[in-house]
Amino acid sequence: MSEESGAAATYGSYLHIDELLALQRPRSAGPEHDEMLFIIIHQVYELWFKELLHEFDAVMRRLEDDESYRVQHTLKRILTILKVMVAQLDILETMTPLEFLSFRERLDAASGFQSDQFRQIEFLLGVKSEQAIRRFPEGSRARTALERRHEEPTLWDAFLRYLSREHYPVPPSHLARPVAAPIDPSPELQQILVEVYRRDPKNAELCERLVDLDEGVQEWRYRHVKMVERTIGVRRGTGGSSGAAYLHETIGRPIFPDLWAIRSQL
Ligand code: HEM
Repeated sequence: MSEESGAAATYGSYLHIDELLALQRPRSAGPEHDEMLFIIIHQVYELWFKELLHEFDAVMRRLEDDESYRVQHTLKRILTILKVMVAQLDILETMTPLEFLSFRERLDAASGFQSDQFRQIEFLLGVKSEQAIRRFPEGSRARTALERRHEEPTLWDAFLRYLSREHYPVPPSHLARPVAAPIDPSPELQQILVEVYRRDPKNAELCERLVDLDEGVQEWRYRHVKMVERTIGVRRGTGGSSGAAYLHETIGRPIFPDLWAIRSQL
């Protein structure tokens, strides 16, 4: 029974289908046929971002509780969602440049660049920027969430603390690292990770899931920029950046550089 009305929940009432279906509001005159796809795909991405953040928060808690197998289980779910998110770009690539241009000017400055949930995921993974926070109005939901995540430990910090509790000699300077600083490569940590890979199958497997995650995010960035290139070429982005040139700079930067650096030593 629903608490509000006393009536039994239905599919429609439980999922708020009426509200959900009222949220796709094209701005183009007509409206242009392809704008519906453009809106829906972005909304679907925002829902997946929400679910990813929900799962990442669980990964962080489970790492702090030393529940290694549950961490792996949740990471597996995250990786599966990431694969679906990459695959979804295929749908948008059925939209030709002319079809996109038919409504692009109605987007004004709107761009995925302004997705606070995407930035929240980046922050959690250690890619933090105060500039990204300042783009959102003070007191807004987006800014409050980003400010909180800016001050919170990253996934890498939680992983290092876990490794330390697993009796690896993670240097105190790494355990007390400023959580808003970039994750730089560390030869000391690399030595420890080589030991993990050689002698500790449980935690080596966990490292592999983190590499999967890193590769998955890079895969999304690569596929997104290719889609951008085929749809708008070298035009500037609606978010105000140089467009594909800016996006290219974000590709190939690993999230967990130490996990890549050790590959040639294994
Ligand atoms: C026709 C489709 C698309 C085009 C042409 C496009 C274009 C762009 C461009 C040019 C940028 C650079 C920033 C700027 O706007 O100046 C950008 C950034 C971004 N876009 Fe898209 N995009 C498209 C679809 C999507 C979709 C479906 C998503 C899913 C949420 C998305 C998410 C993002 C994100 C998160 C960024 C920020 C990336 C970063 O700063 O590293 N985009 N997009």
